[in-house]
Amino acid sequence: MRLALIGYGNVARALAHLLKQKRGEHPFVVTGAVTRRGYVMDPAGIPPDPVFVGTGCTVEAFLDECPCEVVVELTTLNPVDGEPAVSHIRAAMDRGKHVVTANKGPVACAYRELREKAAARGVQFLHEAVVMDGTPVFNLMRHTLAGVKVLGIAGVLNSTSQIVLGAMLRGLPFEEGVAEARRLGIAEADPWYDVEGWDSACKAAALANVLMDAGVTPGEVDRKGITRLTPERLAELEAKGKRVALVSRAHRGREGVKLRVRAEVLERDDVLAGGNGRRSVLVLETDLMGQVGVFSVGSQVEQTAYGVYADLLEVARISGGV
Ligand SMILES: NC(=O)c1ccc[n+]([C@@H]2O[C@H](COP(=O)([O-])OP(=O)(O)OC[C@H]3O[C@@H](n4cnc5c(N)ncnc54)[C@H](OP(=O)(O)O)[C@@H]3O)[C@@H](O)[C@H]2O)c1
Repeated sequence: MRLALIGYGNVARALAHLLKQKRGEHPFVVTGAVTRRGYVMDPAGIPPDPVFVGTGCTVEAFLDECPCEVVVELTTLNPVDGEPAVSHIRAAMDRGKHVVTANKGPVACAYRELREKAAARGVQFLHEAVVMDGTPVFNLMRHTLAGVKVLGIAGVLNSTSQIVLGAMLRGLPFEEGVAEARRLGIAEADPWYDVEGWDSACKAAALANVLMDAGVTPGEVDRKGITRLTPERLAELEAKGKRVALVSRAHRGREGVKLRVRAEVLERDDVLAGGNGRRSVLVLETDLMGQVGVFSVGSQVEQTAYGVYADLLEVARISGGV
């Protein structure tokens, strides 16, 4: 199965190395990639560290030329309207290509439209990596919890905020926590996006759109971050057996699905309170299975690449071959 990549940054490079490692088992071929810097194309397969040429090639022109069955969208996140990734995905589907993405933007901002377009065009639209990298979230529901309805969602999904809270719990100032997350390479280019709850809002919207058909955007999430907290306040709560975590929640009310991101005060033994450091925790409230959840520890870009790879295997399985 031939793949065209839009965006060739950290995730794409990790994916290219994973595909090389697994080539004997599942021979996907990357026939081209396009970035802002230019494009590269070779029907026989491009190398994992390609040289980009031909600046000025639009994504649409690239998609017209690149021989592929699947387009992998890996451009930079835009939490406001998901662009340009939403347009890239539309363009790929209009050309009859399956789409796999690790970009939260399109799933958080335009999921219904893209799901319907994929169905109309008879292509797959998969996005396992957008919430917890390679840890199964959407595939968990699809493959192992068939027939189960999600009634509510609660998750601690932003590692940077957890690292900042952990640092403050050790008595360090807020800015030192942000610097620590930066040193670990976890923080977004603009870490305020993490600590003000935007990343958590995007993930909540993506989860609610896919698992609860919420039809929301990140801008509609009732959102507050962790910037008002201090080491003194956290120490006070700790002394009372409480922990603070930045929690994303969704629940279905009379007026549709409501989403909220807040720094919540939790009992120390609450499953959501175990999220300090580089961890993510997700708990789904369901009709038939009560509460079920997943967690991940120390996830890195290799796990994001795995999430994309799992989707590629799913596309191959559904469409009958690699
Ligand atoms: N890194 C992670 O661990 C992780 C985890 C989960 C999800 N994600 C998501 O995965 C996606 C990729 O992440 P990343 O870390 O690989 O990002 P990255 O290193 O910043 O790379 C982004 C790539 O997108 C390209 N790009 C941006 N705008 C474009 C446009 N208009 N047309 C064509 N190409 C464009 C960039 O081109 P240039 O190279 O020319 O600048 C670059 O190659 C993001 O949406 C991110 O939120 C990442």
